[in-house]
Amino acid sequence: MSQPLLTLDFLDNAPAPAAPGQLSADVRVTEATHTGRQRRLYIESYGCQMNYSDSEIVSSILYDEGFDTTTELAEADLVLLNTCSIREKAEVTVRQRLKEINSHKRKRPGLLVGVLGCMAERLKSKFLEEEKIVDLVVGPDAYRDLPNLIRDVDNGQRAVNVLLSREETYADITPVRLNSNGITAFVSIMRGCDNMCSFCVVPFTRGRERSRDAHSIVAEAQALFNQGFKEVTLLGQNVDSYKWQSEDGTEQVNFAGLLERVALVSPELRIRFSTSHPKDITDEVLHTMAKYDNVCNYIHLPAQSGNSRVLKLMNRTYDREWYLDRVAAIRRILGEDCGISTDMIAGFCSETEEEHQETLSLMDHVKYDMAYMFFYSERPGTLAARKLADDIPLDVKKRRLAEIIERQQQHSLVRSQQGVGKVHRVLVEGVSKRSEEHLSGRNDQNKVVIFPRQHFKKGDYVNVLVHECTSTTLLGNAVS
Ligand code: SAH
Ligand code: SF4
Ligand code: F3S
Repeated sequence: MSQPLLTLDFLDNAPAPAAPGQLSADVRVTEATHTGRQRRLYIESYGCQMNYSDSEIVSSILYDEGFDTTTELAEADLVLLNTCSIREKAEVTVRQRLKEINSHKRKRPGLLVGVLGCMAERLKSKFLEEEKIVDLVVGPDAYRDLPNLIRDVDNGQRAVNVLLSREETYADITPVRLNSNGITAFVSIMRGCDNMCSFCVVPFTRGRERSRDAHSIVAEAQALFNQGFKEVTLLGQNVDSYKWQSEDGTEQVNFAGLLERVALVSPELRIRFSTSHPKDITDEVLHTMAKYDNVCNYIHLPAQSGNSRVLKLMNRTYDREWYLDRVAAIRRILGEDCGISTDMIAGFCSETEEEHQETLSLMDHVKYDMAYMFFYSERPGTLAARKLADDIPLDVKKRRLAEIIERQQQHSLVRSQQGVGKVHRVLVEGVSKRSEEHLSGRNDQNKVVIFPRQHFKKGDYVNVLVHECTSTTLLGNAVS
């Protein structure tokens, strides 16, 4: 079993967490760990939080194999890019990065270059043909094989393992926490996805859905709490379909049950989760959220579109009415304050102007706190690529997306304004990026709150009376 014995210097203001599937604003490069290992690993992660989480597992496996991590490409013996395929642009970015690394490799011929993650899985050995610089191609379920594959590469071969698994959850591997603020951490509870949304490449790159042993999840949350962490986010492409049973079948745990078990680790440990699927989120989950104060009042519930015909073409398996019913259940059980966010896709195949207007009207109805918004990007091999014409011109997709973004900015501001004049319980994550004299944290609804530092510190829970806001940030003062 991997036992990272590393002392990591925790970074203040680590990048804001991205939900599964969301591109973060920045690529993430691992922090340096200098423990005198023989070789140095430099790893960059693209795409969603699942990928960042996997990079921590990879670092753990390779630590045991004699690799420290470095933030300096120039110091590296092994460069790994943990890649994303969700939209074409994500893949273009990685290709561009490989070109830069290639020019670097010319100066250091011994440097090994590997591609991990979803793009590795999608392109398989074709990657080796297309990108001569790449020595190693490893899919998301094959990371335990990395030591063997690296040995093959050391022996002058190029190596590929893109086998998907029905069982692998890396449950026994303790991730090396990279780029951590020491307060908030991500815990992967499942892998893969069994939904077949017609636009989405994830079922092809991540394989079948499987849930991780509930005991190992609770143990990881407990260990994080013991180390001083105050918040865990449970990660999965569709957390509501989490389902685990013990080998003898006597113990069965669904997502509501898991949420409860993790909530019971400590009332001082906050729990978040992502992503919820509108077809699967149950009232039982909502009641569990209501029952435990430490389960945050915030749900990421991607709608993708506000029109039932488009939702059907997307194979989302719910319609507008179903989605609105779920939102009504959230408001009924958790109240108006519960934060709700979404993902929206503009310009999906054959979407009309009227259907686009229905996305805007759904947004008006729900008033999301936040949204990740994209225009449709056709992905090879998906149901939509095979069956539907990508027929909305790029300029129309972009104009519809701009309208969605503008609408969301208005709603984000309205939702922030509703928090003004109220007291928010804030978990401090670090010093504000703009001022050493201010601290930054998040409230229950996942909004960033900034307030004067006084005697408070990272990891404290502070009650803050908010007196001002922007669409994304609340400003206030600590109150007793
Ligand atoms: N499992 C999550 C999200 C996974 S992907 C869910 O079901 O909601 C994250 C987001 O990327 C999706 O919600 C969708 O909005 C967007 N996305 C996925 N495929 C896309 C594509 N081909 N073009 C544009 N956006 C896409
Ligand atoms: Fe993709 Fe749909 Fe699975 Fe989300 S639920 S990962 S959008 S197939
Ligand atoms: Fe995540 Fe991108 Fe793969 S969003 S699951 S890294 S395709």
